[in-house]
Amino acid sequence: MTQDELKQAVAAAAIEEVKTAIQDGEIIGIGTGSTANFFIDLLAQFKGEIEGTVASSEASAERLKKHGIPVYDLNSVDSVAVYVDGADESNHALELIKGGGAALTREKIVAAVSKRFICIADESKLVDQLGAFPLPVEVLPMARSHVARELVKLGGDPVYREGVTTDNGNIILDVYNFPIATPRKIEEAINNIVGVVTNGIFACRSADLLLLGTPSEVRRLTAK
Ligand code: 5RP
Repeated sequence: MTQDELKQAVAAAAIEEVKTAIQDGEIIGIGTGSTANFFIDLLAQFKGEIEGTVASSEASAERLKKHGIPVYDLNSVDSVAVYVDGADESNHALELIKGGGAALTREKIVAAVSKRFICIADESKLVDQLGAFPLPVEVLPMARSHVARELVKLGGDPVYREGVTTDNGNIILDVYNFPIATPRKIEEAINNIVGVVTNGIFACRSADLLLLGTPSEVRRLTAK
């Protein structure tokens, strides 16, 4: 199976999870990236059965709207029943690195609001320890050099992601060579640097369920 076929399979499995999880009138949170796009495209077949969605990026909102799926402003909904999104890495505690598509801040907000977070990924994303994937950090533009110096003090090698402006008008620093042994602590430490909007470690709000695509099956993993 190709990586895209694995992503398609987990997206289909997520549709089944969502169909059983949501009640009439409940809102679905939608992630960003190629795996989330497969989910959006499948969700379109059931648009008549759902109240609507909130999106974690302008790109996902646009894709949802093209399918005729209602997209609400997060401030106009009381709650989000379930959030479905991909990841760049997951460990066995379902703590994640996200933000490869630069949407980490809105993704973290939607995940925080949602009652349940279903992560969908192909098997290449499951790791024993987070950090082989460079950690994205969203930063206010004027704080770029300051935040970079602070990230070096924490032991990483930050690299400015050229040509990328987030949906919030900020820049991304990707932190290389930064093994993450204590995800929660490091998430909090980076978020405490002045000028950081947020970072791509999802440990304070980890996933509740990981649907992992393998060639033989879609595995259902809950936190160990
Ligand atoms: C975007 C993300 C994505 O979920 C992550 O990059 C995974 O993307 P893909 O599904 O394309 O592999 O965090 O900011």
